[in-house]
This record gives sequence, C-alpha cells and structure tokens, in this order.
Amino acid sequence: MEILVLNGPNLGFLGQRQPEVYGSAGMDALPALVEKMLGEHARQIRLTLFQSNSEGGLIDRLEDAWKAGMDGIVFNAGAYTHTSLALADCLAWIKIPCVEVHLSNVHARQSSMRHTSLIARHCIGAIAGFGIMSYALAVQALWQRLDQP
Ligand code: DQA
Repeated sequence: MEILVLNGPNLGFLGQRQPEVYGSAGMDALPALVEKMLGEHARQIRLTLFQSNSEGGLIDRLEDAWKAGMDGIVFNAGAYTHTSLALADCLAWIKIPCVEVHLSNVHARQSSMRHTSLIARHCIGAIAGFGIMSYALAVQALWQRLDQP
C-alpha cells in the first residue's frame, strides 16, 4: 500500500516551529509510530513524505500520486486548508482516498479562519489535535479503509 504523506506551507521545520502549538516531534518520528500502532501490518505500507511551501508544488505532487496510482494520501495542507480552492479542486478529481490532518486542534484555535476547511469535503475524514500522532492515526485509518473496505 502506497501512501503519500503530504505537508503544506510552513511544515518543513516541524519540531522547531512553535513547538508549544505544533509539538516537538519531527516527521522522522512517524515511521516508528506507525510501526507501534500497526505492528507487522506496517510492513505492507510504504510511506512517501513530501513537503512544499507552494500551492502549485502540492498540486503537482498530488497529480504525480494519481499518475503513479498511489493508494492513499495523508494531507496537512497547513494554512492552505482554509483558503485553497485549487487544492480542493485537485482532490475532487484525483479521487485518491485522503485524510486531512492537523497537528493542532484547529477547531479550538482562536482564529475562526482555522475552523473552516475547503478540502474537507474531498477527504474521507479528518484528524486534528494530536501532534505527529495525527499522521499515524490517519495512516491507520487509511490502512483499515483500504485493506478492509
Ligand atoms: C495546521 C493548522 C493550520 O491552521 C496552520 O496554518 C498550519 C498548521 C496544523 O497542523 O495544526 O500551518 O495545519
């Protein structure tokens, strides 16, 4: 099972960017968390990590995932979550099962802009508020959905 773990703008320095909001773990912690959660099933999953600060870079990577026939996407679109019709349009047509993730609990954040997601309606679900564990939970959800639909 090929899963793209896609990070949007300002998510290239996880662990260093506002750790009080986004946690102190980096993306390098993800494989071990997935292995801990899924045990031997983790061997059936290949994670491809990619980060871009640009909207176009994210769309190009999503299109490449479609061309490559990837099975699932774990997507933290960062601030583009709340603003990008272009990313929503892309998810709408590539139709790869996608889980929206956030490190912080966006719904509990002060800025009401963060309470809205333009990509949510093109995702099979959303997980927010568990730091790097949000990604591991999303991988588990995708694995369960795809392996035992
Ligand atoms: C974020 C939440 C967004 O509102 C913010 O712009 C981010 C990170 C999160 O993971 O909590 O860059 O997606």
